[in-house]
Amino acid sequence: MDSLLIKGGTPLKGEVEISGAKNSVLPIMAATLLTSEPCVIRRIPDLSDVIFMTQILESLGATVERLGEGELRVQAKKIKSVGDYELVRKMRGSICIMGPLLGRLRKAKVSLPGGCVIGARPIDLHLKGMKGLGASISIKEGYVNARAPKLAGNEIFLGGRSGPTVLGTANVMMAAALAEGVTIIHSAACEPEVVDLADFLSSMGAKIHGAGSPTITITGVKELHGAEHDVIPDRIETATFIIAAAATNGDVTIKGARLDHLQAVVDKLEETGVILERNGPEIRVRRKRKLKPIDVTTQPYAGFPTDVQAQMSVLMTQTPGISIITERIFESRFMHVSELARLGADISIEGPSAIIKGGAPLSGAPVMASDLRASAALVIAGLVAEGTTQVNRIYHLDRGYEKIDDKLRGLGAKIERVKGE
Ligand code: EPU
Repeated sequence: MDSLLIKGGTPLKGEVEISGAKNSVLPIMAATLLTSEPCVIRRIPDLSDVIFMTQILESLGATVERLGEGELRVQAKKIKSVGDYELVRKMRGSICIMGPLLGRLRKAKVSLPGGCVIGARPIDLHLKGMKGLGASISIKEGYVNARAPKLAGNEIFLGGRSGPTVLGTANVMMAAALAEGVTIIHSAACEPEVVDLADFLSSMGAKIHGAGSPTITITGVKELHGAEHDVIPDRIETATFIIAAAATNGDVTIKGARLDHLQAVVDKLEETGVILERNGPEIRVRRKRKLKPIDVTTQPYAGFPTDVQAQMSVLMTQTPGISIITERIFESRFMHVSELARLGADISIEGPSAIIKGGAPLSGAPVMASDLRASAALVIAGLVAEGTTQVNRIYHLDRGYEKIDDKLRGLGAKIERVKGE
């Protein structure tokens, strides 16, 4: 397995371009299954999760053709309803093929995506949504079988214990686009990725109103047609680069990002002393010499995203005083904490909160990445730490950050990829 060797202590300087959003592109690729006509998707990031999703679409019978850099043409002329067990199981995001298969074929057989290191990650709300549209669901031999000879609009409440579900909302929206009658999703996820998917579905001929708010109304249509779409910029990658720039006391210009998708993060960054200067479409990131401790709680959009919590905790290690980060979305999302401790960070976990005593310097050590955002946090910590940090198991990073080592090198970071077996 590849690892990253980072020699820390160099402030990041220069310009970086943000890629298309991983969490938008996966459901949008799945949505191409809703029509037999070709769709063209642009600004697709070069990620292993995108390769997995391409393989899943191909295994269902779609043809996927690369047109140019970051541009794919997908045509799902004739597809089958059974997702390859091993492929689907590999990636949580693949659950979003269920809605399109059910919508188009009235049946879907998809392997259970299973839990992962950040928490149990159940799919009960996805199944509740499919049942609400009239599907009968059975779980057998690791597969979810959904069948709906008749798919009919309904009022569906998708709020769960930890708030709305992003991919659950996507799944119901996609199935409902081809159901008979009107579906109203209550307590829908409001994330920009849900809006991006709704925009793509609308350009395919779907009738969707209210995406981005907690109530989404979908009026089913008989069929959808091909469409073209540009994926929105990745807000989590944007936040990761802003935090890396601030943590290293750098001066970085971020291009092609949308800060309006990151209001809660911007608010907390400015509170701690990060300076974000908006110059048209570019954002210049610097920081005040001394940062202030902060108190962050993760929430569904438009609150502070769980996907930025780990990276933020590294910035807090550079902030004199006590900062508190409380995780309210996933129960086990503090796997990075014990690894950050190897670098000398003083963080203790109290229930759902991480208490960070910041201000002491970090020093490089070998660390192990446990999930995507934890990996990003360890990379930022490595950039800050004195000496050399080896971040092992970086395949997690390649799932969600396009060429992160190249982009960081472009900003002056001393980072090199060490090829594993
Ligand atoms: N939940 C349920 N039942 C369900 C579905 C979710 O109880 O049927 C719970 C989850 O356990 C969690 C909460 O609801 O406590 C929110 O989970 P959600 O369903 O919104 O997560 P997701 O849609 O599976 C997406 C992103 C995640 C991101 C979350 C929250 C993709 C591919 N994944 O997951 O991204 O953390 O929304 O914003 O879009 C990442 O990029 O690193 C990542 C994990």
